[in-house]
Amino acid sequence: MRVLVTGGAGFIGSHIVDRLVELKHEVAVVDNLGPTSIKYIHPGTTFYQVDIRSKDLETIFEKEQPEIVLHLAAQSVVPPSILDPMYDQSVNIGGTINILEQMKKVGSRKIIYSSSAAVYGEPISLPIDEGHPIKPISPYGMSKWMAEHYIALYHRMYGIDYTVFRYANIYGPRQTADGEGGVVSIFVDKLKKKETPVIFGDGQHTRDFVYVQDVAEANLVAMDKGEQITVNISSGEVVSVLDLLEALNQVTGLAVQLSMQLNAREISFIAPLILQRLIRH
Ligand SMILES: NC(=O)c1ccc[n+]([C@@H]2O[C@H](COP(=O)([O-])OP(=O)(O)OC[C@H]3O[C@@H](n4cnc5c(N)ncnc54)[C@H](O)[C@@H]3O)[C@@H](O)[C@H]2O)c1
Repeated sequence: MRVLVTGGAGFIGSHIVDRLVELKHEVAVVDNLGPTSIKYIHPGTTFYQVDIRSKDLETIFEKEQPEIVLHLAAQSVVPPSILDPMYDQSVNIGGTINILEQMKKVGSRKIIYSSSAAVYGEPISLPIDEGHPIKPISPYGMSKWMAEHYIALYHRMYGIDYTVFRYANIYGPRQTADGEGGVVSIFVDKLKKKETPVIFGDGQHTRDFVYVQDVAEANLVAMDKGEQITVNISSGEVVSVLDLLEALNQVTGLAVQLSMQLNAREISFIAPLILQRLIRH
């Protein structure tokens, strides 16, 4: 199948591309290799270093004629979206519209969109299911949600099928410390250096972590299933630091201590599964 992956050089996109190439799909990748990108360009793909907002997308779509677009390219982090909401919306909303327009012109069948649990805002119940109220608390959460609306609109107007995934915190190999789930990579860096990771806060914070290759599999499944649905991709497990400390010490043999220092960037909530998988890679 002819597929086009936007953001295919990034953390999650590159894992999806690996699987698509493995399964012998014809894969084109569009990624502008921005400063935060991890730049995994698979040699088995046709790679275009292009911004998703660019007019050049038209020529690329004419040439590639993708049946399916897996859309991951985004301004993908919350703090920059607060500092520069105009840029955030131009990539996450404007870029998505540009992609949908090109899909319409060449008759692409389906878009699989990587949205975010950030659309829900502050949780009022856990775990968050798809019926949870949507009240984004950042321009990032808002722009991801608006892009979802445009995708549904292009289905109503032009019949382009879609599956929307709202990811929880994704972790795994190739992750940088800057992304939504970046606390995991910070933590693992410390483990690799044999430093004792510090867990900040009162230990009651919770997160929901999902392994990146499971996310890649969900995207593959959506290539021929799940038309017009919006689903969370999450473990459904609420994990607190305190729950994890004991298990963490068992897995690593390290004496991880709970610190009451406050540094939100380094709050780390790690499941034993996360550690086992990351240490393996
Ligand atoms: N990592 C997470 O935990 C997480 C959670 C929820 C949702 N998501 C979503 O999943 C998707 C992928 O996230 P990721 O963690 O792999 O992020 P990432 O930053 O590693 O990958 C995004 C890729 O998009 C590219 N890109 C950015 N702006 C672009 C533009 N204007 N034109 C072309 N390419 C551009 C970047 O160069 C990068 O390679 C994003 O849409 C993000 O919003 C991620």
